[in-house]
Amino acid sequence: MKTAIFIAASALYLGLCAPVAAGDVAAGASVAQSCVMCHGEKGLSTMAGTPSLAGQPDLYLANQLRDFRDGKRHNEVMNVIAKPLSDAEIDDVSAYFAQFEIQLKKKGK
Ligand code: HEC
Repeated sequence: MKTAIFIAASALYLGLCAPVAAGDVAAGASVAQSCVMCHGEKGLSTMAGTPSLAGQPDLYLANQLRDFRDGKRHNEVMNVIAKPLSDAEIDDVSAYFAQFEIQLKKKGK
């Protein structure tokens, strides 16, 4: 029984973590044109209070956008911006920003 629960939980976890490359990067690039003035070129933000989107998992980005759109996550700006986005546009723009790879280095180095 315990094994069965473990297997079921693992399958669920893996299912949730598996990359769902549902979005279309090229279509996402055109949606992203209305995001980069705040979130930065290719989603690398230089604006205080505005997070970078580049390199974040597409599933995470898509979930945040749906939560903004559906009013489950509250932010005056993003609630307005996400409101008109369709599910396809959310998946596409998420795939666009998720395609970038971020390299870490310490500040000032
Ligand atoms: C006018 C500025 C502005 C524009 C334009 C804008 N955003 Fe945002 N966005 C923000 C701010 C500010 C936040 C931080 C919200 C918070 O603190 O909860 C944010 C947060 C987000 C987050 C959550 C990131 C995280 O790490 O949790 C996502 C995803 C996002 N924006 C996607 C988009 C997309 C996609 C577009 C274009 C369709 C867009 N934004 C356009 C200002 C903007």
